[in-house]
Amino acid sequence: MTVDYRSWIRDIPNFPKEGILFRDITPLLGNGDAYKAAINTLAEQAKNWGAEVIIGPEARGYVVGAPLSYSLGIGFVPVRKKGKLPSETVSVTYDLEYGKDILEIHTDAIQPGQKVVVADDLLATGGTMAATIELVQKLGGDVVGAAFFIELLPLSGRDKLQGIPVHTLVQYD
Ligand code: PRP
Ligand code: ADE
Repeated sequence: MTVDYRSWIRDIPNFPKEGILFRDITPLLGNGDAYKAAINTLAEQAKNWGAEVIIGPEARGYVVGAPLSYSLGIGFVPVRKKGKLPSETVSVTYDLEYGKDILEIHTDAIQPGQKVVVADDLLATGGTMAATIELVQKLGGDVVGAAFFIELLPLSGRDKLQGIPVHTLVQYD
């Protein structure tokens, strides 16, 4: 089925800060056909990359990464903001389009050499995904691709992702 994903993404000016045009995916998530089509398309891509595990950053990365892993029958590993994971972690500090934060992953979450696809709802500056990739690499994982619903082209997030293949469903100028 062909879905016009753009029609399911809502623009909210000046959220969460003055000057940010927030691309809100909640309408897309709320429509079963659009959500399913988006996940199926990214799952096909992740399969072609040879994904053995999917990794997504809190919180919106979970609504992309978890259904992707379920659809492929492989595991999902959550990357969380500081202080939320209960076992031993490694961490990375990163810059956001609208702030700074720390991300963590469990040290035993990935096996060295394991093929990892990283997933999130949106690629803006690339800070979140670059940090997520750095966490995976600290554990010896092999990041084979990065999948997103949305890419904000003027912020050039791809340039931060070490040439790792990137697939996005909707691009905004
Ligand atoms: C948003 C979004 C991405 C990130 C993209 O997450 O879900 O993870 O920003 O921006 P970047 O490419 O500039 O890093 P946010 O940190 O707002 O957290 P949330 O998912 O908990 O809303
Ligand atoms: N995360 C970072 N920038 C964003 C934006 N403009 N819209 C939605 N989520 C974002």
